[in-house]
Amino acid sequence: MIKSEEIRELFLNFFKKRGHTIVNSSSLIPVDDPSVLLTTAGMQQFKKYYTREKDPLKDFGSQRTASIQKCFRTTDIDEVGDERHLTFFEMLGNFSFGPVINDDPLDFGNGGYFKKAAIYWAHEFLTKELGLKIDYTTIFGGEKNVPLDEDSLKIWQEIGINKIEKRGREDNFWGPTGDEGPCGPTTEIYLEGIEVWNLVFNEYYQDKNGNLKKLEFPGVDTGMGFERLMKVLQKTETIFETDLFEPLREILDNFSGEIRRKRIIMDHLRGSVFLIADGLFPSNLERGYILRRILRRLLLHLRFLEINFDVLEKMIKAIIEKYKAFYPELDNFDKIKKVIFDELQVFNETLNKGLREFNKIIKGNESEEALGEKVFYLYTSYGLPVEISKELLREQEINFSQKAEEVFKQLFEKHRLISKKEENG
Ligand code: ALA
Repeated sequence: MIKSEEIRELFLNFFKKRGHTIVNSSSLIPVDDPSVLLTTAGMQQFKKYYTREKDPLKDFGSQRTASIQKCFRTTDIDEVGDERHLTFFEMLGNFSFGPVINDDPLDFGNGGYFKKAAIYWAHEFLTKELGLKIDYTTIFGGEKNVPLDEDSLKIWQEIGINKIEKRGREDNFWGPTGDEGPCGPTTEIYLEGIEVWNLVFNEYYQDKNGNLKKLEFPGVDTGMGFERLMKVLQKTETIFETDLFEPLREILDNFSGEIRRKRIIMDHLRGSVFLIADGLFPSNLERGYILRRILRRLLLHLRFLEINFDVLEKMIKAIIEKYKAFYPELDNFDKIKKVIFDELQVFNETLNKGLREFNKIIKGNESEEALGEKVFYLYTSYGLPVEISKELLREQEINFSQKAEEVFKQLFEKHRLISKKEENG
């Protein structure tokens, strides 16, 4: 069975051969981009090359780059635990920065390319290099001021792909990340019914007001979900059975309990390890709170599976061993362990008491108002975070309705104002 380590190599070599400079993954904490909390896409570190504020020839010796980027997305955080959602993931990408010099897949030079080379190479990599079969592709069908992407349609037809679906802005227009930036129509490649590779043709710049302006020169930004690709290649049932999670799965196999909990543990622990390796600490602010939130949820599920801190330590080591050759910043076990343990040891006490009280007072038959009040009480009197209460309610199939949420929020706001007044004397 082909391993993830080999696929990373194959991907980078394929594009290196075709004139791309290989660039390391940037940190999960964006260096030069206040518009986003964490790195969510491979193109983020290249934004200024699309707008020509930076010169790719000067920095990379080529208008073409390729990378394997660490990404962290919070949009689907509540979905983690099902078969396919993740917070942390790796994205394989190739990029071209304008102007277009020669859009020819046989040109292995270092000039800018566009749709034809991008689509031909994606097809060649998947079908020839990896021997996979493309199920179907999608293209941008045209909406508002952005026309149907006829070029991509023709290119796919020329290659011999017959099933090409036209989709709207919701599905086939990507970006920008954060408030503003390069964006454009996309063509997506599906394997076995799963969207695996997204090819974005950055022709526009969206400003803070949502207005689109044509970029001086168009560029290419592609992103292939590594976990999804490995699932297809290794023919596993879900992404969690791929070799990317194997060392963790082997440890978790010794524990009985819901698979959902195990997936949350695998995702949240792996994400935490990578975030900490990039210098993040848990806190109550912005990105630090993202880390705090996933660590707390991790602890909740560790408790349910009765997994102790010795086993947790083994799991941290297993992640580091699996990934450190490619991501050397992970080779920092003592620090990573300390940050995780410090946070979890403090929260463990809170969680003990909070869970006890939760079980005592939540009956499942309370009114929406009462539920909002109880969750507020658990938070103020026991420090039980609202996300944890919500997770527990969801597990017991108790609906925390919009109204309950509103009651909670009102009480919370009142509480906040009172505390502030007290603080200010
Ligand atoms: N930037 C594109 C994405 O994240 C490729 O899907």
